[in-house]
Amino acid sequence: MLKGKRIILGISGGISAYKSAELCRRLKKEDAEVIVVMTQAGMKFITPLTMETLSENEVVTELFPQGKKVGARHISLARWADLIIVAPATYNLIGKISSGIADDILTTVISSTKAPVLLAPAMNVNMYENPICQENIEKLKKTGYRFIEPGVGDLACGEVGRGRMAEPEQIKNVILKLLAGKKDLTGRSILVTASRTEEPIDSVRVLTNPSTGKMGYALAEEAFERGAKVTLISGPSNLATAYGITLIRVRTAGDMHKAVKNYYGKSDVLIMCAAVSDFTPQIIYPGKIKKEKAGLDLKLKPTADILKQMGRRKGKKILVGFAIETRDELRNAKLKLKEKNLDLVVVNNPEKEGAGFGVDTNIATVIDKNGKIEKLPLMSKRELAEKIVGRIIKLLKK
Ligand code: C5P
Repeated sequence: MLKGKRIILGISGGISAYKSAELCRRLKKEDAEVIVVMTQAGMKFITPLTMETLSENEVVTELFPQGKKVGARHISLARWADLIIVAPATYNLIGKISSGIADDILTTVISSTKAPVLLAPAMNVNMYENPICQENIEKLKKTGYRFIEPGVGDLACGEVGRGRMAEPEQIKNVILKLLAGKKDLTGRSILVTASRTEEPIDSVRVLTNPSTGKMGYALAEEAFERGAKVTLISGPSNLATAYGITLIRVRTAGDMHKAVKNYYGKSDVLIMCAAVSDFTPQIIYPGKIKKEKAGLDLKLKPTADILKQMGRRKGKKILVGFAIETRDELRNAKLKLKEKNLDLVVVNNPEKEGAGFGVDTNIATVIDKNGKIEKLPLMSKRELAEKIVGRIIKLLKK
């Protein structure tokens, strides 16, 4: 499936470099042409000989190799590539790229390419969760770099947590999708809502929920990569969107309602993934409410059910809703599907481990309007996004 595609496999210095050999093999099996570019630290973990044998190409390790005419080799490599995958991408390498440092052959090639760059981070959990690393990742995502999230599990350093490099097969599948994937949403406009809303109580307090936006952002990215024009209406979130997605930031349920109404007309699909507040304070107190010993009664009024309203003027659009249920999941989700006139409802129970707010994984059940129920196992939110977008594509073809 990758015949004629030219891939640079960058290897920086992490123990997961042993998996890069397998990744190289798998890319070659798909008939890709692969050139491996290694950092000095990368070569401490796996030899250039191994990579040369597997890639069937000379391995590039030096910015200034002795005795060779170099010219602008980093530029010709950068131009040659249809895609660059760096696996493993270490804390140091991610930091260097995000700071604009290009002091070895790999970072120099990356800095001068126009090809998509994929990074598969691998490191100790504390390094990965270090706010500096997370900030670097967010910054790179905004600039268009694509990350393949590390998994959770035993790490080579003896600790347990997030930091294991994604498996070669998973990385290969992302590459396949990017280079050989069908752009089956080309020409379609998809509107996605994500994250939470915040309803002000006074000038310093809000009524909200823990939704971070991970599921909605994953859906927006998946639809974008499959060729759709994507507008993402997001409540407060620290996440970055891929370059090319139109991001509209909102705060309250009222703001989100207005934004959805604005974009709904031009959309073929609405995926309402945001955890919209069902209530908002009747009045917003000016300034900060003083601490009262006797307590405080807040009067709340319901917000508009955005999805239900859009369901009333559905036309030929595809509508997808999300439902968070802690009991009677299927029954309640089916009721919502009917009441809001949806094509699909995705239900999850945040009380299950690995599902719900803030985590990178989810356990969901997808129900369609004919009552067909698809129970999905634990998977990353990105994988779930792939499944949901796949279902939407089928519905659009009908
Ligand atoms: O009825 P419930 O709030 O559980 O339904 C959840 C679905 O409805 C989600 O898709 C959510 O985005 C949407 N919703 C909405 N407007 C609200 C509340 C929820 O569109 N005010």
